[in-house]
Amino acid sequence: MKNIRPRQDENAPKVYIETYGCQMNVNDSEVILSILQDEGYVLTDNMDEASLILVNTCSIRDNAEQRVWGRLEQFRLQKNRRPGVLVGIVGCMAERLKDKLLDSHAVDIVAGPDSYRMLPGLIRNVTPDSPQMDVALSHEETYADITPVRMDRNGVSAYISIMRGCNNVCSYCIVPYTRGVERSRDPQTIVREAEELFANGYREVSLLGQNVDSYLWKGASGNVDFAGLLAMVAGISPELRVRFSTSHPKDISDDVISTMAEYDNICKHIHLPVQSGSNAMLEKMRRKYSREWYLERVAKIRSVMPECGLSTDIIAGFCGETQQDHLDTLSLMEEVKFDYAFMFQYSERPGTLAARKYPDDVPADVKTSRLNEIIALQGRHSLESNGKDVGKTFRVLVEGTSKRNADELFGRTTANKVCVFPAGGHKAGDYVDVKVLSCTSATLIGECVTARDGR
Ligand code: 5AD
Ligand code: SF4
Repeated sequence: MKNIRPRQDENAPKVYIETYGCQMNVNDSEVILSILQDEGYVLTDNMDEASLILVNTCSIRDNAEQRVWGRLEQFRLQKNRRPGVLVGIVGCMAERLKDKLLDSHAVDIVAGPDSYRMLPGLIRNVTPDSPQMDVALSHEETYADITPVRMDRNGVSAYISIMRGCNNVCSYCIVPYTRGVERSRDPQTIVREAEELFANGYREVSLLGQNVDSYLWKGASGNVDFAGLLAMVAGISPELRVRFSTSHPKDISDDVISTMAEYDNICKHIHLPVQSGSNAMLEKMRRKYSREWYLERVAKIRSVMPECGLSTDIIAGFCGETQQDHLDTLSLMEEVKFDYAFMFQYSERPGTLAARKYPDDVPADVKTSRLNEIIALQGRHSLESNGKDVGKTFRVLVEGTSKRNADELFGRTTANKVCVFPAGGHKAGDYVDVKVLSCTSATLIGECVTARDGR
């Protein structure tokens, strides 16, 4: 496995990387670092000493893009102060805006999500008068042969991309336009990467894809679907936890659910974005499932794995959303009682089906008040869900020292709940049993009931 090289060479060019957006982007930055490391670059977390500043961007909502535009001002100052510094915008925003980013005059390099192998060439060819751009999307690129250089620093939990792109056409979503068509990665390369991580002390891998349930590798010796891949990775060692994200309600199969149940080390947590509880909205969003279908999948998951954590994504104020549609979302939340949720106001993305077909007609103040109601309800549900865990004991994989208290550690339960507890001589990478004594809506607070020698 590659690691961040020690700084043997003080003169080596330094790259500073900022990452926005999803876990997939975090992993992409690790792929980019791997490619640049082969070119002699060394990672720095100090922008002032970098000769190359890269921003790995997200386009999912307008505010994600606005943050990057704000950062470009900072980078312009760097370029004024230190002529020769190169600024590159990579990722989804690069793909969406292309040469519009070059017009800002603060950017030297623009590279889309499938162009990271081109970065060394783009860097070599760039001059003050000729910025470089590669935003070609590929049908094949999965970076399967590139070993990401881990930037997580905890050495316990790592992301592995198992596929790229997305073939769904959710009407609100920019991802199919920025990340192109769906392609699955060779399972052997995934297993090899997970094995190497395990050999290097990692104890958890998260398998990432926009829609993991449609993972499919067509190989000479047969096909591997997502349930098959899960079993392959889980088979590496019972000491290696396996997580995955994101599941699509229309595609999550009984096979995946039963494979999860079969392996103790496949974590009992599913992130299952519902987006809305209204069938009219789901139809307009082109999610290809109904409220009833979603509730059936949840019932199935819970009948097979009663303790399975469930989280979701919700969009408030999609095009034409009525008060009744909004109430349907609240009632679905009441029915399911998610453990936690990511909640957003609808943000129109240019070029998407929704932007072309439906007016973004829910007034901003209505979007905000609906979102606030959703957030308040979820807060109550999260607290309720965590409250049910008080008094129970969970196996927790220690990820590191708590941010609030250096004498405490934190980790997660199989259901993906964050748990903090006094360190008691344990360290990152240990499995410990934690008895939950109290909670907030975001955290379980407990004490370790495992002896120091792990018994
Ligand atoms: N506006 C608001 N939220 C969005 N998401 C995706 N596109 C948009 C948009 N245009 C949310 C969805 C998705 C999550 C990653 O981001 O809930 O599941
Ligand atoms: Fe990730 Fe989607 Fe944002 Fe791209 S647009 S970085 S795929 S969340």
